[in-house]
Amino acid sequence: MISKYPTQKLLMKLQSFQVVTSIFILLPIIPLIIGDLNSDRQSLLDFASAVPHIRKLNWNSNISVCSSWVGITCNDDKTRVIAIRLPGVGLSGPIPANSIGNLDALRVLSLRSNYLYGNLPSDITSIPSLQSLYLQHNNFSGEIPTSLSAQLNVLDLSFNSFSGNIPPTIKNLLRLTVLRLQFNLFTGAIPDLNLPRLKLLNLSYNMLNGSIPYSLGKFPISSFTGNSILCDNKKFGTSAIIAIAIGVSSILLLLVLVFFFCCLKKKNGGGGSLLKGKAANGGRSKKPEDFGSGVQEAEKNKLVFFGKCSYNFDLEDLLRASAEVLGKGSYGTAYKAVLDEGVMVVVKRLREVVVGKREFEQQMEDVGRVGQHPNVLPLRAYYYSKDEKLLVCDYIPTGSLSALLHGNRGIGRNPLDWDSRLKISLGTARGIAHIHSEGGVKFTHGNVKSSNVLLTQDHNACVSDYGLTPLTNFLATPSRGPGYRAPEVSETRKVTQKSDVYSFGVLLLEMLTGKAPLKSTGHDDPVDLPRWVRSVVREEWTAEVFDPELMSHQNVEEEMVQMLQIALACVAKVPDMRPNMSEVVRMIEDIRQSELDNRPSSEDYKSSVNTP
Ligand SMILES: *[C@@H]1O[C@H](CO)[C@@H](O)[C@H](O)[C@H]1NC(C)=O
Ligand SMILES: *[C@@H]1O[C@H](CO)[C@@H](O)[C@H](O)[C@H]1NC(C)=O
Ligand SMILES: *[C@@H]1O[C@H](CO)[C@@H](O)[C@H](O)[C@H]1NC(C)=O
Ligand SMILES: *[C@@H]1O[C@H](CO)[C@@H](O)[C@H](O)[C@H]1NC(C)=O
Repeated sequence: MISKYPTQKLLMKLQSFQVVTSIFILLPIIPLIIGDLNSDRQSLLDFASAVPHIRKLNWNSNISVCSSWVGITCNDDKTRVIAIRLPGVGLSGPIPANSIGNLDALRVLSLRSNYLYGNLPSDITSIPSLQSLYLQHNNFSGEIPTSLSAQLNVLDLSFNSFSGNIPPTIKNLLRLTVLRLQFNLFTGAIPDLNLPRLKLLNLSYNMLNGSIPYSLGKFPISSFTGNSILCDNKKFGTSAIIAIAIGVSSILLLLVLVFFFCCLKKKNGGGGSLLKGKAANGGRSKKPEDFGSGVQEAEKNKLVFFGKCSYNFDLEDLLRASAEVLGKGSYGTAYKAVLDEGVMVVVKRLREVVVGKREFEQQMEDVGRVGQHPNVLPLRAYYYSKDEKLLVCDYIPTGSLSALLHGNRGIGRNPLDWDSRLKISLGTARGIAHIHSEGGVKFTHGNVKSSNVLLTQDHNACVSDYGLTPLTNFLATPSRGPGYRAPEVSETRKVTQKSDVYSFGVLLLEMLTGKAPLKSTGHDDPVDLPRWVRSVVREEWTAEVFDPELMSHQNVEEEMVQMLQIALACVAKVPDMRPNMSEVVRMIEDIRQSELDNRPSSEDYKSSVNTP
């Protein structure tokens, strides 16, 4: 330490000399204003008035920048704008200098998939706090400014018309993890980027020449294709191809083995466990598993059907059907019943029902009424007697969101991709919003969780198990519905539409992180998902919260961040701070909208780039 001292001192001197000179150089350029929310608002308005856009932005000075402007995120104390996300809103034209570049607290700027062109103003790339810059799929041209924020973590300028050299100042971006420059017109040599954190590099389809610098040798050949790069390209290529071939064939072999073993297992293990508790002659069965054991002889025809139900079976058929226990839910046990002719239904046997017949019937009417929506699992029929309460609904074979998210992670698993997760989230939100609007202000789902979101083959979500809390003493037991229950519910013992919103927020977090809200492994210190996510996000490790299975997809990071913001709004501790369900639907639709806008335009663009 001591022997190094003189050198360090010299270094410090040199650095301070540099700092002093750069201050002198920069002084006349930096406007001497200290930014605040007013100046941020003005800069945004300047931008919006200078750049035409197809989708209307609701930016006007009447409403709060921080809570209502589309695409704008502020810091916690709402004093500065820290993120702008306007993907696919049809912005067209050049970005004027002294507009966005004046937002000197900005950390994230996403203007991807618009029609922006012209030079990229250097006051944007040099915003000192800027961490992520997403400008892919526009038509910017000219050179990239050489002054780049030292905080940059993600730089995506792909699918534009940038030209000139890749600026050597990129070498100084020690925090850079993602650099995407593919499909531009860059020329010259690839700079020697010895960046410790760089995980993703794509320079493909430019006009670069020279050789791949040694420091970038660890990146795959697909990071560099479509350039005129010389040198040991060929050797690199052949060895890569051999490696890929070996990899692919071993994966195939593994898959064949896994498949083989699965088949073997099924053959050996199937059959026996399937048909459990066949309720023979009339349902007075002794087996405790049977759902019909409380049905009185005289009441056998009292199955109440809803609407224009296409089922033609009666209670007797139901009791005669072979039944399989599907699981013990929050309100009782669920069975799969296979009727004659192969019709399958789910029968739920409610336990601990605390209301009388009239109240029960009234609630069932409401449940039956709200069930008429593509994202809500309809109640088909019910049965009520003193000793037995049964509900009948459709059987959805594909399974639940919970099973798809958490079931058998590992080899052979087909992870749920982002598009599917987005679609499921939107469907679920629409289902709950329908339940809220159709049932009236007092009507709640009451038990929103991932195992109550059933999925069809093409990932249409269907919410189930709704409207049952008023019938049972479900809320009296704090241990039930773990992880999803809003903090106020434990005290008030009352679910509200806002507590449904909270539970839905937890479900979104579960979908984003891939983590179960509470692992019931018997440990007494389970993870509270909202608290964990908040703590990670506060430390600005946002990317760390996402499910690793999602991280390989391109262009979805900010959509995930947008969804994360919606989720965090839903799990606000104070119920009044949470959005209502129809607002949540609109916010999720906004993500989807920008995604839909994005698709065709990026495809058009690709083809226009490819054709000479
Ligand atoms: C602001 O609000 C006033 C009245 O509340 C309205 O007349 C005006 O049009 C609003 N301005 C904008 C830009 O929306
Ligand atoms: C992109 O901009 C260049 C000029 O900078 C122009 O020649 C080209 O036609 C534009 N491409 C598209 C798809 O608009
Ligand atoms: C790379 O291209 C530039 C022009 O863009 C040319 O001046 C240079 O000589 C080329 N270098 C090599 C190694 O081909
Ligand atoms: C780079 O981009 C090209 C074109 O989008 C793509 O085909 C290639 O797989 C990408 N490579 C990497 C390493 O992401």
